Amino acid sequence: MTEKHNEGLLEEKRFFFPPTEFSAKAIIQNPNIHELGADRATFWNEQGRRLDWFKPWNTVLEWNPPFAKWYVGGKLNAAYNCLDRHLAGPRRNKAALIFEGELGDRRVLTYQDLYREVSQFANVLKSLDVEKGDRVTIYMPLIPETVIAMLACARIGAVHCVVFGGFSAEALKDRIQNSLSKVVVTTDGSYRRGNSIPLKANVDLALPVTCINNCVESVIVVKRTGQPVDMLEGRDVWYHEVMKNVSIVCPAEPMDAEDMLFILYTSGTTGKPKGVVHTVGGYMVGVSTTHEWVFDLKEEDVYWCTADVGWITGHSYLVYGPLSNGATILMYEGAPDFPEKDRYWKIIEDYRVTILYTAPTAIRTFMKWGESYPLGRDLSSLRLLGSVGEPINPEAWMWYNKFIGGEHCPIVDTWWQTETGMIMMTPVPGITPLKPGSCTIPFPGVHIEIVDHAGNPVPKGEGGYLVVREPWPAMLKTVYGDDKRYQDTYWSEIADVYFTGDEAKWDEDGYFWVVGRVDDVINVSGHRIGTAEVEGALVDHLLVAEAACVGRTHEVKGQAVFAFVSLKEGIEIYDGLIAELKAHVVQKIGALARPDDIFLTAELPKTRSGKIMRRLLKDIAEGRTIGDTTTLADAEVINFLKKNIDAQK
Ligand code: WTA
Repeated sequence: MTEKHNEGLLEEKRFFFPPTEFSAKAIIQNPNIHELGADRATFWNEQGRRLDWFKPWNTVLEWNPPFAKWYVGGKLNAAYNCLDRHLAGPRRNKAALIFEGELGDRRVLTYQDLYREVSQFANVLKSLDVEKGDRVTIYMPLIPETVIAMLACARIGAVHCVVFGGFSAEALKDRIQNSLSKVVVTTDGSYRRGNSIPLKANVDLALPVTCINNCVESVIVVKRTGQPVDMLEGRDVWYHEVMKNVSIVCPAEPMDAEDMLFILYTSGTTGKPKGVVHTVGGYMVGVSTTHEWVFDLKEEDVYWCTADVGWITGHSYLVYGPLSNGATILMYEGAPDFPEKDRYWKIIEDYRVTILYTAPTAIRTFMKWGESYPLGRDLSSLRLLGSVGEPINPEAWMWYNKFIGGEHCPIVDTWWQTETGMIMMTPVPGITPLKPGSCTIPFPGVHIEIVDHAGNPVPKGEGGYLVVREPWPAMLKTVYGDDKRYQDTYWSEIADVYFTGDEAKWDEDGYFWVVGRVDDVINVSGHRIGTAEVEGALVDHLLVAEAACVGRTHEVKGQAVFAFVSLKEGIEIYDGLIAELKAHVVQKIGALARPDDIFLTAELPKTRSGKIMRRLLKDIAEGRTIGDTTTLADAEVINFLKKNIDAQK
C-alpha cells in the first residue's frame, strides 16, 4: 500500500487488548511464547513433530548461506499429512472442504471424500506418465478440483505450478515454458459475476508455442461452466471421464524433506516473473504451525480464507496449513458482489463461519459499499479476523473490527510473502495486544529486523529496510532453475540477510509498521505487479517506443499502475489509443495489471546516463512536490509532465 494510507501511522497509539473471553479459551496462553522461539533450532525441531513423518530427520537445519536445508534426512508426504493421517480418528467424516459456487451450488467433501478423490486423481496423473519431480501446471478457478489436483500432485511427488485464472494466455505460456510442465489441468471456464471466462481457450492459445518444446503431453479439463471447448485428440481429456473406474488406492510417495513441493511464480524487480521454489518439509511445518497458532484453530471452526489458490495465501492458508491441521475450510468461487453486495456476509451467516481471513483491499471495498450490508446479516459466529497482502490502514482496521468483528474478534494482521511461504509477523491472538495498522511482532522462531542500507539495525522509532536475519522453515529454497537469481535478488542487496523488498518502521514498543515496497513492485489490490512486466507489455505494442510505470495511491486498491508512454517517431495520437494500450497489457498479462492511467509524452525524464528517473515520475503520479531534479539530463521534460498531468486532474 502507500504512504498516504500510512501517513501518521506511528502516531497511531491505540492499543486493543484481546477480549478476556477469547484469551481464556485461546490455544496459546503462554504470554512468553515468543521467548520459546529464541532458540530457533530447538523451537522448530519441536514443531517438526506436529507432522507425520515416514522417517524422522537427523538434523533440523543445515545452513550454507543463502541455501538452507530443513529437517535433513526426514521423509514425509504433504498430501498424507493433509488427508491420510486424519482418517483413523473422528475427523474421517468431518467436512474438510465446504464449497459454494457463484451460482449458489454447494458441495461438501469430508476428509474421507477428499482422500478418495485425491488418490484417484493421483492415479490418473500416473496413468498419464507423471512421475515424481515432473511439473504440472494448474490453471483453474476456485473449485474443489483445484485443491484435489494440488494434493494429487503432492501425493505422487509431482511439482504443482498453480497459475492464477486471471492471468492471460501469454502469461500462462511463460509459466508453462519456464516450468516445462508435462500436464496442464484446467476447466472449460470459470464464473465471474455471472459471466463465464474461458480458461481452456486460453490454454489452447498458450500451448501451440510451447509444443515446440514438446513439454505438455496432456491437458485435463474439468467441466465447470459447460461452455463449448475444443478438445485436441490425443492431448485433451475430460476430468470426469478419466476419473471413471480409477482405483482409490494410491500410496503416498515418501518425499525427502528437501524435495520440491511446488513452484509459484511471482513478480520481482526485473524481467519475467520468477518461479519461487518451496520444498516439502520446512514448508509444511511452517504453515501448519502458523495456521494453528495465528488462527487459534479449534476442531469445530469453520475457517474461510478468501484468497484464490493462484496466490501464496491460497497455497499456505487455504490448502496446506488448514488441511494439515484437520480444519474445515470454506471455499467460495465467485465475486463478493454477486448477486448482491452482501454475498460474503450471507456466506458467513449460512455456514456459521468462525474465522475470516481476507485482504485490506476487500475491506476498503466493503467500507465503500457501506455497513448496511454486513449489518443486515448475522455475523455472530465470527470469533477471529485476519488480514493479509498489504498494509491495512487504521481506518479500515477500525471498520473491520466494528462492523465485521462486532468488536469482539481479535484481528490478526499477518505480514509475509510468496517467498517466506508462511506468516512471519503477526499477533498471536489471545496474547498480543493489537495496534490498528501494525502487524505487531515476529512470529516465535522468526528473526526479523529493520536495518539501514549497510545492514545495521535502526533504533526503535525509526524506519529502514525489512530483512530476515536467520533462515526459517518455510523459506523459499531458490528461484526455479536459477540459483544465481535467488542469491542476487534476495541475499545481495544487503549483506548477509534476506531482503524482503519492503520498507518498515518500528515504534517504541518494538511494534512493526510495514510501509510498502521499496523496489519496483507495485501492490495492486494485494497482488504483486512488476513494473518491468507492465513496461514490457507496453513496449511490445507496435506504436510504443518507451514506457515507465510507477505505483500511485489508490483509495481502494492500495496502489494502481500509472504508466508514462512515449510513442515511436512520427506516430500521431488518435482516439482510442489509450484504451488500446490498456487492452494490450491485459492481453499480455491479465486484467490485474491494467494501468489505471496512461500518459503519453514525447520524452521520459532521464539522467545524463540515460536511466529513467522513476522517483520523479512517482512524485508526478502522486501529485506531490517533485524531488531533486539536478541529475536530470533535461529538466524541461519533468516540468512539461507536471504541468500537463496537473492540468488533466
Ligand atoms: C505486502 C502475500 C503490509 C508486502 C502474502 C510484501 C503486507 C508483499 C502484508 C508480498 C501486511 C503482505 N502488511 N504489507 N500484513 N502482507 N504485504 O508475495 O509488501 O503476494 O512484500 O504475498 O505484500 O506479497 P505476496
